[in-house]
Amino acid sequence: MSQLVRGVIARAKGAPVEVTTIVVPDPGPGEAVVKIQACGVCHTDLHYREGGINDDFPFLLGHEAAGVVEAVGDGVTDVAPGDFVVLNWRAVCGNCRACLRGKPWYCFATHNATQKMTLEDGTVLSPALGIGAFVEKTLVAAGQCTKVDPSARAAAVGLLGCGVMAGIGAAINTGGVTRGDSVAVIGCGGVGDGAIAGAALAGATTIIAVDTDDQKLEWARGFGATHTVNARNVDIVEKVRELTGGNGADVVVEAVGRPETYKQGFYARDLAGTLVLVGVPTPEMTIELPLLDVFGRGGALKSSWYGDCLPSRDFPMLVALYQQGRLDLDKFVSEEIALDQVEEAFAKMHTGGVLRSVVLF
Ligand SMILES: NC(=O)c1ccc[n+]([C@@H]2O[C@H](COP(=O)([O-])OP(=O)(O)OC[C@H]3O[C@@H](n4cnc5c(N)ncnc54)[C@H](O)[C@@H]3O)[C@@H](O)[C@H]2O)c1
Ligand SMILES: [Zn+2]
Ligand SMILES: [Zn+2]
Repeated sequence: MSQLVRGVIARAKGAPVEVTTIVVPDPGPGEAVVKIQACGVCHTDLHYREGGINDDFPFLLGHEAAGVVEAVGDGVTDVAPGDFVVLNWRAVCGNCRACLRGKPWYCFATHNATQKMTLEDGTVLSPALGIGAFVEKTLVAAGQCTKVDPSARAAAVGLLGCGVMAGIGAAINTGGVTRGDSVAVIGCGGVGDGAIAGAALAGATTIIAVDTDDQKLEWARGFGATHTVNARNVDIVEKVRELTGGNGADVVVEAVGRPETYKQGFYARDLAGTLVLVGVPTPEMTIELPLLDVFGRGGALKSSWYGDCLPSRDFPMLVALYQQGRLDLDKFVSEEIALDQVEEAFAKMHTGGVLRSVVLF
């Protein structure tokens, strides 16, 4: 059996997204069907649409979502129909070399649904990040459902499913930000502001927000930035050094995903500092750096996939902080939109005025 629902697909590279009918199979062993309540629009969805991730069109977009489990397949014991869940793209396997060494946040064999969602003509869809959640109901591996406090607002906590978690984790888990650190965050979208909020939670005393958009910088202050720098007007390496006693920041988080901002981050670090790349580059991008500077400046150059998070550990913890008023997830939600407004939300990523658009069902 299967059911027909409405969802948003990217049919071809660069073509506007469209709302169409999606065929969702009943859950098989180890799978769950989730009725989506809210799904944020992440820059990675736009990367998929633009062919920046891979060529496996058509994509079923959307991946920052919260909803209620509708049905589960055989052998599923961790979640049951009626559970309120945030979807994750790191359902750890427990058996790969990373899991066996006690580092499941690096799991190399994460689970997705085995069956495929399709178009009515049978065309197989590639769900974004193995989720696909701009759709009334989606099919995932049961391990992709993380139970959280059902009294939490879906539009807000769904954002933990990708961008906000990636940002918070980039600062805290990958960057190791701790009390008294100085931190610079380049790019203050949903991911960058997550990093700012994470740095604030961890006790960083200097948090420098860098963006090219003054509105974004104003919002960044609301998440805990102590200083803001508009990259259009100044040399940000000089400015970050000036704001950190001439030294550079202990941790720089690059949340744009471009060679020039990566280079700025590289030089805006203090000696022995850490640079975390959480922005996603596209295949043609390259960087050139003097190897002597890589060596001579010391420290660590790290990449952060999903903020090195462990959903079962981190989602409930962050939802608790949200419910206690210590992590303002509501502030990430700029607007609530309908399923047929995803294309408009993509346009706003370039024109500004929005931190996160969230599709409500
Ligand atoms: N690593 C992960 O697990 C992960 C998860 C989610 C998203 N991402 C990636 O993170 C990046 C940011 O995502 P987002 O959803 O926050 O995007 P976004 O579009 O909301 O934010 C990007 C921000 O960067 C700013 N910016 C652009 N060019 C700049 C420059 N030259 N200098 C300073 N700021 C600049 C923009 O004004 C904007 O505020 C994307 O590349 C996305 O694909 C990574
Ligand atoms: Zn594993
Ligand atoms: Zn995302």
